[in-house]
Amino acid sequence: MDAKSGPPAEIGRGRVGRALPPPPRPGPKVRSFALRSPAKAGHNIYTTMPLSHQLSDSQYNWEQSISDMPTGKSKQRGRVALSLFSGAGGMDIGVMAAGFEVVACIEVDPHCCETLRAAAAREGRNTRVIEDDIRQVDPKELMSQLELKPGQLDLLCGGPPCQAFSQIGKQEALADERGLLLFQMARFAKVFKPKAILMEQVKGLLSAKDEHGQRGKVFELLLTELQHLGYVPKWQVINAADYGVPQLRQRVFVVSTRKPNGFQFPLPTHAPAEKTLPLFGLPPYVTVGEVIRGLPRPTEKNGKGKDCCHIDVTPAGDRFRIKGVPEGAFLTA
Ligand SMILES: C[S@@+](CC[C@H](N)C(=O)[O-])C[C@H]1O[C@@H](n2cnc3c(N)ncnc32)[C@H](O)[C@@H]1O
Repeated sequence: MDAKSGPPAEIGRGRVGRALPPPPRPGPKVRSFALRSPAKAGHNIYTTMPLSHQLSDSQYNWEQSISDMPTGKSKQRGRVALSLFSGAGGMDIGVMAAGFEVVACIEVDPHCCETLRAAAAREGRNTRVIEDDIRQVDPKELMSQLELKPGQLDLLCGGPPCQAFSQIGKQEALADERGLLLFQMARFAKVFKPKAILMEQVKGLLSAKDEHGQRGKVFELLLTELQHLGYVPKWQVINAADYGVPQLRQRVFVVSTRKPNGFQFPLPTHAPAEKTLPLFGLPPYVTVGEVIRGLPRPTEKNGKGKDCCHIDVTPAGDRFRIKGVPEGAFLTA
């Protein structure tokens, strides 16, 4: 594993004691166009075949593909991104803030898709929301619908489901079919050949065991797969609080580009209060209180208040527990 960066940031003071949301429920499908792959043998190589088979795609000539790549864009566009496992669009907000146009999102959960569509409409964006199981989406068909050619996509980004790797789950890794979804990033990268790939996952991925019980092997397989596709992956565990987010949330980020990868993970902008030495001049971690201080009182759930975007949905039991937490501290499971 030669692609790793420095040691994970030392934080991990506790975690919020909330269960992960349940897996997505099947809901009504709303598709703007047909993207499903024809049902042919071998289509779902990233979901059904043993990983050893997935990683030995000797038929694939990456060097040839690189030299065939067009350098220009099909249309007058800025930098374009495709978002996988988009959720309610949290990562996409950051990607757009970094100057990318998110041309399409793939997400299976109907409620998330409703949010994604509402946000795109509100902001006057043309983002296509593909409400489907990603395993059923044909990347070639999508690429053609988006009028892109291999190599023209600037960024492929996504945060695949974490339940199979999370410390508060059973950590069944690839024995849990949700764990295999990780490799959908590679399936789409293989077709789109994006200039860069950004992936976010829980820290448990770093130590996840493969089918032979070997710790760390799942992550190694992912990096190997990216390398096999011609990418140089760099990774780092990042704590959101180090960047001014009022949350102690550690996640592993993998940034892959085609060789060479000159990407550097940004330096922290904030530090824990006890480490904010005047010499470095970093401001202390931002607290939730600082961020939400200016909000008006929330309306009650099912209430008739005008502000339907700020609703108090916290159960009474949780409210009781939260009340006892001092400013700047946190709940543990
Ligand atoms: C960790 S969340 C991603 C959160 C997102 N990055 C954000 O910033 O909001 C993973 C998402 O993958 C979606 N998902 C799970 N299985 C999927 C599948 N088979 N196809 C498409 N999306 C799926 C889930 O509904 C969930 O919204």
